[in-house]
Amino acid sequence: MKFFFALILFTGLSTYCSPVAVFISEKAGPIGKDTSLYISPFREKNERCFKCHGQGRYEYTNENLGRQVKSLMFPQGIIDRNKFYIANHKSFSCTDCHSEDYTKFPHPGQLRMGMSNNCLDCHGGDEKFAKFKFEEIDSDYRKSVHFKLEDEGFTCWSCHNPHEYKISIRDSKNLKETILYDNNICLDCHSNYNRFQLLSDKGEVNIMKKHDWLPDQAAHFKSVRCIECHSAINDSVLVSHQIMPKENAVRKCNECHSKNSLLMSSLYKFQYQGKSKAGFLNGIILNQSYVIGANRNEYLEWISFVIFTIVLIVIGIHVFLRMRK
Ligand code: HEC
Ligand code: HEC
Ligand code: HEC
Ligand code: HEC
Ligand code: HEC
Ligand code: HEC
Ligand code: HEC
Repeated sequence: MKFFFALILFTGLSTYCSPVAVFISEKAGPIGKDTSLYISPFREKNERCFKCHGQGRYEYTNENLGRQVKSLMFPQGIIDRNKFYIANHKSFSCTDCHSEDYTKFPHPGQLRMGMSNNCLDCHGGDEKFAKFKFEEIDSDYRKSVHFKLEDEGFTCWSCHNPHEYKISIRDSKNLKETILYDNNICLDCHSNYNRFQLLSDKGEVNIMKKHDWLPDQAAHFKSVRCIECHSAINDSVLVSHQIMPKENAVRKCNECHSKNSLLMSSLYKFQYQGKSKAGFLNGIILNQSYVIGANRNEYLEWISFVIFTIVLIVIGIHVFLRMRK
């Protein structure tokens, strides 16, 4: 009996908790311990900020008290050096994006009111970044459900953490890691009500429950990204940025589990380009997953067809001979 209950508990827990557990387990080394290899030209300069923002605790001289005071940094103010120095903007100094006046502490109040640069301010029209198609991404984003939240403070930075964002799918060597990385971008808000409620009056939504119509949710969430089902297909950019209202999300199983799997024009787009289709149908997927219905081997199908026909012929001859006797 005990075993029976333990089993139920275990399967229950693994169904409901494992996707969450999978998404939370990503943390690199302990924050504050610098193990990054990149030699930034601004390493020392950035330490002016990291000495307070690089870990959970900071110290400053309280001039009124005339002594050192220790205090705790607010969670969003903590920046992991190890993630910063592998990010896309690792070659930046903090004060390339933030006012030089932040070197003063306490930080002057009016700095709070400052505007931050948008991606397009720097990347718009720049030949060097043409392959990313920033303008097209921007116009997709303007059609997405999140754009109407701009007045509440939603921007490209809401998904692209300014201190950690790193391109992944473009040069992905481990697709599962990329999927985890990309899904965390969404879950960091949709499963983090503290952040979510800054932007919406909607009550807390349990994302895992909302998707419990999907069998083996954990396996699915490890093998496909949120955007596979939630963004409109756009063949001219690598990552479609047009997140659609929930009514338009993919729900039909055969959109992936079929010969014309949508996965070939989303998740597997980059690997797929320029590769032949011979052998296994959608063979590129097979390096990562076996997707029922989408992966079929055309040679095997032919061989089984031929064997089937031969069997029919043999049975036919047999029946014919018996009847003659
Ligand atoms: C002596 C510790 C200390 C140092 C050094 C320091 N900060 Fe801060 N910083 C804080 C604390 C504490 C807060 C939260 C309170 C506040 O907003 O003033 C903060 C807040 C911020 C904020 C958020 C302000 C907002 O509008 O919410 C930014 C941005 C920031 N710091 C950037 C920097 C940069 C860039 C540097 C380096 C040039 C730096 N800080 C150096 C302690 C420090
Ligand atoms: C590529 C530009 C860029 C660089 C480089 C950068 N930041 Fe930021 N930082 C931003 C933007 C943009 C925001 C506002 C994010 C938002 O609106 O969600 C921000 C926010 C912050 C905040 C406030 C976080 C919060 O949620 O309140 C702190 C603290 C901060 N940055 C510190 C730093 C420090 C320290 C460095 C250097 C190690 C640094 N930043 C480097 C762009 C940058
Ligand atoms: C202040 C100017 C500035 C802003 C704002 C900015 N970037 Fe960048 N970005 C750069 C520069 C400069 C580089 C090149 C850095 C290098 O080569 O070390 C870069 C690099 C990149 C790369 C990596 C390119 C590669 O080939 O590795 C990507 C992707 C990128 N940025 C995306 C974004 C996104 C998305 C945003 C907004 C959320 C953004 N950037 C905001 C200036 C900026
Ligand atoms: C709702 C979340 C979200 C928003 C908002 C968002 N992005 Fe992205 N973006 C993503 C995800 C997820 C990826 C895939 C990251 C990866 O695997 O490289 C991505 C990738 C990118 C890339 C790299 C694509 C490539 O070809 O390698 C660029 C450039 C980019 N975004 C720019 C932008 C710009 C500019 C904006 C604002 C106009 C923006 N993003 C807003 C989620 C978002
Ligand atoms: C910073 C927070 C944040 C991030 C990051 C974010 N979202 Fe959202 N998203 C919201 C908010 C807030 C809403 C609007 C909820 C409302 O009020 O209806 C929303 C709405 C949506 C909707 C529409 C729901 C509906 O009712 O039609 C979908 C689908 C969605 N997001 C998917 C995603 C996906 C996929 C990603 C990652 C690529 C993502 N979101 C990233 C905050 C976020
Ligand atoms: C297999 C396709 C699929 C995948 C993968 C998927 N979704 Fe959904 N999602 C849907 C469908 C279909 C709905 C509409 C459900 C409904 O209305 O009952 C939905 C609903 C939603 C909603 C609206 C919830 C509400 O009612 O307010 C959000 C937000 C959302 N998904 C975010 C995500 C995030 C974040 C991920 C990645 C971790 C994700 N989805 C992965 C298909 C998918
Ligand atoms: C966005 C694409 C997508 C959609 C939509 C989708 N699937 Fe899947 N499914 C996958 C992928 C990819 C895998 C491979 C998982 C893996 O790597 O094991 C998978 C695996 C499975 C498996 C095997 C799970 C396992 O444990 O190995 C079953 C069963 C399944 N899907 C059923 C369904 C059903 C039923 C639906 C509709 C309600 C559905 N799928 C919708 C992409 C999808």
